[in-house]
Amino acid sequence: MEPLKISLVGDAPPPLAEAPADYRGETPNRNGFVVAWPPQRYWKSASETDLTSEKPLHLYFHIPYCLQRCRYCFYKIEILSDSSHAQRERYVSALCREIELVADAHRLRGRAVRSIYFGGGTPSVIPPEQLARIKRTIEQCFRLEDPEFVFEIEPITLNNRMIDGLTNLGVNRISFGIQSFDDRVVALTGRHDTDEKNSRAIERALQTGAVVNVDLLAGLEGETMDSWQHSINRAIALGVHAVTVYKMELYSNAHYMSEIRQGKLSLPSEDEELAFARWGLDRLRDNGYAPSTYFTFTREGKYPQHHIISRWRGEDLYGFGASAFGTVAGHARQNVSEIDVYLERVESGRIPTQRVLELSSADHMMRDLVMGLKTTVIDLDEYRRRHGLRLDHALADEIAHLSREGLVAVEDGRLRLTDEGIVYGDYSGRYLGAGLRRVFTGDTKPLRA
Ligand SMILES: C[S@@+](CC[C@H](N)C(=O)[O-])C[C@H]1O[C@@H](n2cnc3c(N)ncnc32)[C@H](O)[C@@H]1O
Ligand code: SF4
Repeated sequence: MEPLKISLVGDAPPPLAEAPADYRGETPNRNGFVVAWPPQRYWKSASETDLTSEKPLHLYFHIPYCLQRCRYCFYKIEILSDSSHAQRERYVSALCREIELVADAHRLRGRAVRSIYFGGGTPSVIPPEQLARIKRTIEQCFRLEDPEFVFEIEPITLNNRMIDGLTNLGVNRISFGIQSFDDRVVALTGRHDTDEKNSRAIERALQTGAVVNVDLLAGLEGETMDSWQHSINRAIALGVHAVTVYKMELYSNAHYMSEIRQGKLSLPSEDEELAFARWGLDRLRDNGYAPSTYFTFTREGKYPQHHIISRWRGEDLYGFGASAFGTVAGHARQNVSEIDVYLERVESGRIPTQRVLELSSADHMMRDLVMGLKTTVIDLDEYRRRHGLRLDHALADEIAHLSREGLVAVEDGRLRLTDEGIVYGDYSGRYLGAGLRRVFTGDTKPLRA
């Protein structure tokens, strides 16, 4: 087929902030989790930009404190013993101030809010009365339209006060970091949870009537097929609404990484981790859990997490707190990541933006493809209406290749990941993204056979 070259709106083709890794010669793998599109390293240094828009909002609040640093974790957090109660109170005050600054500066005041997400770190280390202050400020600045309200919790922080606090806040989705229900595996991570404590916390959360999600992490030190099966089976037996299966991502700031470099630690191999993911998906399916994204499986396919899906679909989402990010009015933006710098900026009345990127039309097209496929399905007609491009024609070769590999299928006007495609996570999205770059650049090199 003659390669298609499209012209993008504007004088010159807008720069592609980044295209995915070249796909010629790559075989399906589970590497390369795509966090945001375009990737944050391409967002430019900027103090502020105009984000005025009328669309409904999603709000994310980052709480960068934890009980301990888990040995596998790469998140930028501060452990409680290294920060005082007063400092955390200061952080909460800064979050409230930031909400007000942003609402006024970007004329977001009164805007409808569809979802609220408290993530971290571990939001449940903040006392309920402090959390209530944040919620009151949100209510004063925005119009809450019966929003989904998601709250991340480490199970051992869930006491009676927190249970009451969550109910008063209006939390309707609780997301537990479990990682593993096997006590031996958990002990090796540096966490203090146990199967018994985790199970009790989940049962209490279920009694509140909230949707309950548990995170499991495939690829931990000491994980065996037996311990992994125990974790999946326990989640199912507890009757949680949703199970998220993360693949271990290794970054240089995690304790794991330095131990691996020193030859002191070896983790389950890629093949073992792949086998865990496959077994998990099959078992969850057999027990009535269907993929709502390629890593979250929900009972009967109900209970999708709207906040994350809206983020990937590019709906307006503002991130508050150190390092928080989102996209509003076609601009991706992120706050400064150092807690001290964040506090100092907000306390002096400035919006703590670190970097911004105005998305080009090519970025939007790429984002809706690469991030859209994380939800496992792209409606081809809707994509054409949005971008004027028939993906199934423009990427016919790439789609045919992935179909032969058993990773995607086109049915009823929808491009969807098969179960095998789900196991390989972002691979199909990155592969098709590389194809879209070929369309943008008019690259005629043949695809891998
Ligand atoms: C920010 S944590 C929130 C939950 C809470 N802090 C806890 O751990 O209980 C969200 C999830 O990120 C996942 N995570 C942490 N480190 C990871 C890594 N190295 N690779 C993949 N996922 C990771 C864990 O499954 C964790 O539950
Ligand atoms: S996994 Fe959760 S509790 Fe552990 S360090 Fe990371 S964010 Fe904190």
